[in-house]
Amino acid sequence: MNTLHVRVWRGGVQGALQSFDVPRHASQTVLDVVTHIQRALDPTLAYRFACRVGMCGSCAMTVNGVPRWTCRTHIDKAVANENEITLEPLRNLPVIRDLVTDMREFFDKWARAKGQFQGTLTRKDDFQKIDPESADRKQVDTSIECIGCAVCYSACDVVAQNPDYLGPAALNRVWTLVKDERDEKTLERLRAVAGDAGCHACHTHMSCTEHCPKQLSPTAGIAGLKREVLSAVLRGRL
Ligand code: SF4
Ligand code: SF4
Ligand code: FES
Repeated sequence: MNTLHVRVWRGGVQGALQSFDVPRHASQTVLDVVTHIQRALDPTLAYRFACRVGMCGSCAMTVNGVPRWTCRTHIDKAVANENEITLEPLRNLPVIRDLVTDMREFFDKWARAKGQFQGTLTRKDDFQKIDPESADRKQVDTSIECIGCAVCYSACDVVAQNPDYLGPAALNRVWTLVKDERDEKTLERLRAVAGDAGCHACHTHMSCTEHCPKQLSPTAGIAGLKREVLSAVLRGRL
């Protein structure tokens, strides 16, 4: 039988790689491999997943040095080196154990960036509709598809160098709200992302855009935020 040699990160920051042999089969995903290890070889292996269909964003890991969602990554695509694969937790986040990272700082940054929608209607009002053809909506048509997987955050070198940087996902979220005509906190949001740890810290390396499994472009959203901040400053509003 064709066997896959898998090296998996075990432990916390001070951990080490442990080797497992996993039977290889057609259409096998990286998440299938991790699940096999946990169910058949070592039940103490810690990892996260929920939907298995690319919806929840919880299964992201570093696969052969590249951040990826694992439920939609096929072994045939991920195994660059014959039958060997190395699985580690996402970079730029504290490791709790094995393949599980602590996502708190990732989501705390969404809150710091003012990533919560704030509308004016009450629950008694009818739904407010957005014209899908409007210019603002067109600019965020894809950006709103973010699943919060943190792959972009893990791929960003600026986050690695400056842990205070809000990061591509939180800034992408703010971009979608700034372009949401129902939202009434635009200036607060622009203020929140205008500082040293905000959109101007992005060096436009594009790693986030290159690795996003949903093919979104946080880089474009961040560039949009830079323009919005500048325009608000020039108009004396910030
Ligand atoms: S484009 Fe900006 S946010 Fe994206 S990876 Fe590069 S520095 Fe980070
Ligand atoms: S922008 Fe892409 S990579 Fe980043 S959290 Fe959203 S879906 Fe994941
Ligand atoms: S398990 Fe939900 S996106 Fe992979």
